[in-house]
Amino acid sequence: MKILLIGATSAIAKAVGRLYAERNAQLYLLARNEERLKELADDLTVRGAHAVDYHSLDFVHTQEHSSAVMGAQKSLGEIDIALICHGSLPDQESCESDYEKAEQEINVNGLSVISLCTELAKIFKQQNSGTLAVITSVAGDRGRQPNFIYGAAKSMVSTYLQGLRGKLLAYNVHVVDIRPGLVDSPMTARFEKGPLWSTPELVANKIVRSIDSKKHTVYTPGYWRIIMAAVCSIPELLFKRLKI
Ligand SMILES: NC(=O)c1ccc[n+]([C@@H]2O[C@H](COP(=O)([O-])OP(=O)(O)OC[C@H]3O[C@@H](n4cnc5c(N)ncnc54)[C@H](OP(=O)(O)O)[C@@H]3O)[C@@H](O)[C@H]2O)c1
Repeated sequence: MKILLIGATSAIAKAVGRLYAERNAQLYLLARNEERLKELADDLTVRGAHAVDYHSLDFVHTQEHSSAVMGAQKSLGEIDIALICHGSLPDQESCESDYEKAEQEINVNGLSVISLCTELAKIFKQQNSGTLAVITSVAGDRGRQPNFIYGAAKSMVSTYLQGLRGKLLAYNVHVVDIRPGLVDSPMTARFEKGPLWSTPELVANKIVRSIDSKKHTVYTPGYWRIIMAAVCSIPELLFKRLKI
């Protein structure tokens, strides 16, 4: 099994990488921190990966995406699964008052992901096989006051993936949209944790199982599907007054 992990040093991606290493997969890692990439590559090798290679890249540099993805394909031979994991949780207030900050966050969470999907779709079409899995968020399901810049970027990716899924069907390529709820990771280190929170390991388990079973849209943990259905059902007249 040949896996491309994008944003590989994120807590969730690392946990996914470990599960694939246990399956003796061959992995190619993309992330922006070379030192942490090397550490992760060593860790995955010890855990049973067949081979691990990596390349460092800041994903906002979209002009480098084509060569980065082609480098991964060259190293792996064929890409069975590509999982896009990077993201950043912005300070909503500062994004609301400073467009440049908002644009930067939309680039990281939205446009850079679409750019990578564009390059991966070309490769998957040529192969006539593969799975493209992308981590979006439950935040994309409805624009909420505390995080609608992040939510808007994630929602853009989810909408894009819905269309891409149909386009790639004829090429035997599967597209999975993974929507985690609250996960205890470096991204959320500043928040107090409660009963709805889960761990990168739990989320990673669900991601791998969902890829195996060719799911389309995955809420993880699963109770977020019910929570978000309830959130989406609140009439706008009331919802616009809620600060949740
Ligand atoms: N944690 C949650 O509650 C939660 C909920 C829903 C969805 N998600 C999504 O899950 C995914 C994984 O997040 P996580 O929870 O595992 O958080 P994390 O450990 O903080 O991972 C975020 C990763 O994104 C990388 N990144 C950010 N900007 C980048 C850029 N411009 N170029 C390259 N890499 C960049 C970071 O790289 P550095 O390490 O170099 O900074 C980091 O590895 C993200 O897409 C996130 O939006 C998380």
